[in-house]
Amino acid sequence: MNLFQNIKTFLLIIILLFSFVNCKDIPKPRYRQTSSLIGNRLYFFGGDFSTTDLIYDNSANITNEVWYLDLSSSFDTATPPWNKDVGMPIGYVFGASCVSPIDNSVFLVGGRMFIPNTANVNLSSSPVYVFNSNISLWTTPNIIGFNSSFKMRTEIQPVIDSYGKIYTFGGNNYTYSNVPYADYNDMSTLDTTSMIWFTLPKFANTPLPFFDYTATLLPNGIIVYIGGFKSTPPDQYEAVSMYEIQTFNTINYSWSTKNANGTYIDTRAYHSAVLTQNGEIIIYGGSMWNDTSKPAAPYLAKLDTNSWMWSITNLSQINAPQLCYHSAALYGDYMIIAFGLNPSLSPNSNSTLSNNLYILDIKNYTWVTSFNTIQPLPPTSYPYGLFIGIGIGAGIILFGVVGFLLYKWIKQRKYQKYIATPGTTADNAIV
Ligand SMILES: *[C@@H]1O[C@H](CO)[C@@H](O)[C@H](O)[C@H]1NC(C)=O
Ligand SMILES: *[C@@H]1O[C@H](CO)[C@@H](O)[C@H](O)[C@H]1NC(C)=O
Ligand SMILES: *[C@@H]1O[C@H](CO)[C@@H](O)[C@H](O)[C@H]1NC(C)=O
Ligand SMILES: *[C@@H]1O[C@H](CO)[C@@H](O)[C@H](O)[C@H]1NC(C)=O
Ligand SMILES: *[C@@H]1O[C@H](CO)[C@@H](O)[C@H](O)[C@H]1NC(C)=O
Ligand SMILES: *[C@@H]1O[C@H](CO)[C@@H](O)[C@H](O)[C@H]1NC(C)=O
Ligand SMILES: *[C@@H]1O[C@H](CO)[C@@H](O)[C@H](O)[C@H]1NC(C)=O
Ligand SMILES: *[C@@H]1O[C@H](CO)[C@@H](O)[C@H](O)[C@H]1NC(C)=O
Ligand SMILES: *[C@@H]1O[C@H](CO)[C@@H](O)[C@H](O)[C@H]1NC(C)=O
Ligand SMILES: *[C@@H]1O[C@H](CO)[C@@H](O)[C@H](O)[C@H]1NC(C)=O
Ligand SMILES: *[C@@H]1O[C@H](CO)[C@@H](O)[C@H](O)[C@H]1NC(C)=O
Repeated sequence: MNLFQNIKTFLLIIILLFSFVNCKDIPKPRYRQTSSLIGNRLYFFGGDFSTTDLIYDNSANITNEVWYLDLSSSFDTATPPWNKDVGMPIGYVFGASCVSPIDNSVFLVGGRMFIPNTANVNLSSSPVYVFNSNISLWTTPNIIGFNSSFKMRTEIQPVIDSYGKIYTFGGNNYTYSNVPYADYNDMSTLDTTSMIWFTLPKFANTPLPFFDYTATLLPNGIIVYIGGFKSTPPDQYEAVSMYEIQTFNTINYSWSTKNANGTYIDTRAYHSAVLTQNGEIIIYGGSMWNDTSKPAAPYLAKLDTNSWMWSITNLSQINAPQLCYHSAALYGDYMIIAFGLNPSLSPNSNSTLSNNLYILDIKNYTWVTSFNTIQPLPPTSYPYGLFIGIGIGAGIILFGVVGFLLYKWIKQRKYQKYIATPGTTADNAIV
């Protein structure tokens, strides 16, 4: 064997070792996590490992884990390219992550935030956490003019606009059964460039408090709130109609109700919504707001936000399960669905919670098992031979540095080339 063969063998062993380690790195099934696309990575924050925690007022199974899927190369849905990132300072469920369009920082806003590894529910003191995914760093910002009634605000779906301003509506501060809670119908903004918080005054047509909806920001500045359930005075709750859709105009700060028509769609909560480039909102899954064992039908529907018409698409052969409390994101033509709870399975079954990945090609509404990255691959003419000849030690270091630079280059290219449509997931119920 000559030196080159030795090095090749050595490198092969290293590659095999790394892929072996990677294969074993698979997240446990969970639900009620939040999720965001950052460049070519689909991140998942927190979630709950147990379907019984809420009953026992127990936060021990609420995780601070952060996982991401690397979408820059192709893969099979049976072996997703999972990576574990630095955990959050808190266990997290029932909230949402907003990615700043300015520097890709992630803002966790609202949600139930627990000090991890405490036996009893232990609340976080900060309402917002910020994640810099470049360096895997979590921080708590100083918010100017924070409205303390937003503390522990949950079952909401904040959205962020192209200027980095977050809009968050409604929700409640329910934490666990023996603490009083209140329902809210306030709209607040957090300008992430100045960190100024502002709670808007209420207008005549401000809707009643509602929760566990999805919120989708359209390019024209209108937030579309779909599904969930609302609080109707004095002390009742009912499902939000799928045909009277609340919208908030972020340009002139006004509410209006759109009358939607079209196909019959069940009311639902804990569903997900993604926005297509044609201005269609695709909703997926969810259950009845007051019974998470009753899946909403159909599990996939489209709302055209130009005509406000609902429609149903025929899906291909492979049946993805009905899920609620899952995550959905649109990456190119792929709608990627991950984690969640299968309403039709018994809460005591281990398969109730999912760690599967389901990918729908929305060009033809076909479930696919292989994900083909939409990004061009780096040039194959890259001079790998350059450093292999230098010797093992230097070669490995160089491999690291070049790999890092190459990675940065790819990442920058991708940031420039591709603006993904973020997906949203509605969150938890009091039930
Ligand atoms: C966490 O969840 C598992 C599975 O549901 C359960 O057996 C365990 O008791 C839970 N842990 C706590 C502390 O509740
Ligand atoms: C992360 O890196 C990208 C690309 O270099 C940069 O544009 C962005 O500002 C960085 N974000 C943060 C929060 O540092
Ligand atoms: C909450 O967590 C803190 C820090 O771990 C601990 O000191 C405190 O006792 C906990 N409180 C409860 C109620 O568990
Ligand atoms: C929720 O709000 C109600 C009403 O303001 C308050 O009494 C309660 O203490 C709050 N709960 C929490 C956990 O902050
Ligand atoms: C804070 O939020 C509460 C609840 O929505 C609202 O009643 C109050 O006016 C807000 N305070 C400020 C200073 O905006
Ligand atoms: C806000 O703008 C929308 C769209 O331009 C318009 O239809 C609506 O009347 C405006 N509302 C107010 C209160 O100005
Ligand atoms: C939907 O139907 C209602 C009557 O049921 C009508 O008032 C409304 O204008 C229709 N909306 C659209 C977008 O066609
Ligand atoms: C849920 O609410 C519907 C009405 O919206 C009602 O018919 C049904 O009985 C309720 N289910 C439960 C489990 O409370
Ligand atoms: C869906 O499929 C059914 C049966 O194959 C067919 O009758 C129906 O027209 C299809 N609907 C659409 C919208 O393509
Ligand atoms: C769930 O998994 C655990 C261990 O992974 C096993 O002991 C238990 O029997 C399983 N429960 C059911 C209902 O399948
Ligand atoms: C759907 O589109 C994908 C990508 O264009 C293609 O590979 C696949 O064969 C199509 N499936 C069907 C059923 O047409």
